[in-house]
Amino acid sequence: MNHITNTQSWKALENHFEEIKNVHIKTLFGNDKERGSKLSLNELGIYFDYSKHRVNDKTIDLLFKLAEELKIDSRREEMFSGKKINKTENRAVLHTALRTPKSASILVDGHNVVPDVHEVLDKMASFSNKIRSGEWKGYTGKIIKNVINIGIGGSDLGPVMAYESLKHFSDRSLNFKFVSNVDGSDFAEAVEGLDAEESLFIISSKTFTTLETMTNANTARDWFLSQINNPEAIAKHFVAVSTNEKSVIEFGIDPQNMFGFWDWVGGRYSMTAAIGLSTMIAIGAENYHKMLNGYHQMDEHFRNAPLRKNIPVIMALLGIWYNNFFEAETQAVFPYENYLKRFPAYLQQLTMESNGKQVNLNGERIDYQSGAIYWGEPGTNGQHSFYQLIHQGTKLIPVDFIGFKKSLNPLGSHQDYLIANMIAQGEALAFGKTKEEVKAEGITDDLVMHKVFEGNKPSSTFFLDQLSPENLGKLVAMYEHCVYVQGLIWDINPFDQMGVELGKVLAMKIIPELENDEREINHDSSTNALINFYRK
Ligand code: F6P
Repeated sequence: MNHITNTQSWKALENHFEEIKNVHIKTLFGNDKERGSKLSLNELGIYFDYSKHRVNDKTIDLLFKLAEELKIDSRREEMFSGKKINKTENRAVLHTALRTPKSASILVDGHNVVPDVHEVLDKMASFSNKIRSGEWKGYTGKIIKNVINIGIGGSDLGPVMAYESLKHFSDRSLNFKFVSNVDGSDFAEAVEGLDAEESLFIISSKTFTTLETMTNANTARDWFLSQINNPEAIAKHFVAVSTNEKSVIEFGIDPQNMFGFWDWVGGRYSMTAAIGLSTMIAIGAENYHKMLNGYHQMDEHFRNAPLRKNIPVIMALLGIWYNNFFEAETQAVFPYENYLKRFPAYLQQLTMESNGKQVNLNGERIDYQSGAIYWGEPGTNGQHSFYQLIHQGTKLIPVDFIGFKKSLNPLGSHQDYLIANMIAQGEALAFGKTKEEVKAEGITDDLVMHKVFEGNKPSSTFFLDQLSPENLGKLVAMYEHCVYVQGLIWDINPFDQMGVELGKVLAMKIIPELENDEREINHDSSTNALINFYRK
């Protein structure tokens, strides 16, 4: 087996880990007065501070040696060039082509895909403009006021995250809803009080076969026809985003109203494919292109910057350090920007569906840890909930802080308070508070240990000017590329998701068993009992 754990640099990292595992971040700062500036980068308007990590010069050197030994430098190019790096599905991985300028040429099986990408972008822009301007009328002549995206996974999380993140830039006369869950309450609440004559449904599904999405799409059509009893009206109120034209037509959507994409775009990497249609309607084509430009800037940075100055590469290596050496199980992401409240949920699919793998590219069981558990909430809310565990619990949880200098809603001192908290949390996590410091405050002996903060809790800080379409694009692409580098290091395929299949198949078997009480069931005793409980 081509084992990463057998590489020289991995072995050297294992030895080095023994030397450094108990060294305190405070000591590392004490040893080097310039550490804060030395271990930070300012690229593309992102100030990336990675000094509050449990690394010294040797750690950094060894991590880059690992990257060199695993040829990350040349292998990152394989993705951009259209090589079929999604080996298990024999597909290229070209989400980066979705944000490439018109002049570029990227070949998939000898075909330049860039003109196709721009043709869809232009079609999206023309449609978005019509909705935004009121030129597009519903069947009864009313303008569209409600846009309802129906999709799940990458066909939902990207759209809803982008909408929430960029709400400030959106057309407030339009009302956006996102329906993903097969739980009927999701649909029912989304359409509550809506007038079908003013509503547009975007059925977003790469495959156009996903149970949840097709169930919601059918329910949407029934709901619509219950208000406008004429199937001809569907053409004005339903559009599709998909790679599956045949099923779109079968559903009854005019292919003219279909926005396509390609099998070389993975679901969780599809936010900049036509899956972004609701985003474009919300923020307009100009802002949407600014977002694409932000993505593209980060793509170019990842592709061209030397590894040691490469933000996604550094993030990836630090992630490996905690995941595989410190045995940290999770990675927290705390945006100090309320508009980014769905960003951690978006990252969960991106990171965990990508790198939650147990076999390497040859199909052999790996004997080291792969993808971390990602989670998070916006600051400062998390501080009043789970931060206690990060500060004083027994688990090591590396944190990514994301903050912006300027608020989109400057109100009094809010922004100063928000950012002071972000900076303070990084400081508190890293440096803590000693017994001596607690005692010096006159705390009684019985309480001293309860008030000690051991510190030595690692964090990165990503500090930008202001949340904007462009900066959102940079941030998403930054995590996408971090995921890719980690996948390369772990020798796994970050671009398939076979682990979601089994549950889907079993659900299809159980559905008729729930629908028909007479049907014989032959699962295990627990599953049988659950089915019987539902039947009763
Ligand atoms: O749950 C797995 C998955 O295939 C995701 O990867 C994908 O984003 C989601 O389902 C939705 O798929 P589709 O866009 O084909 O409906």
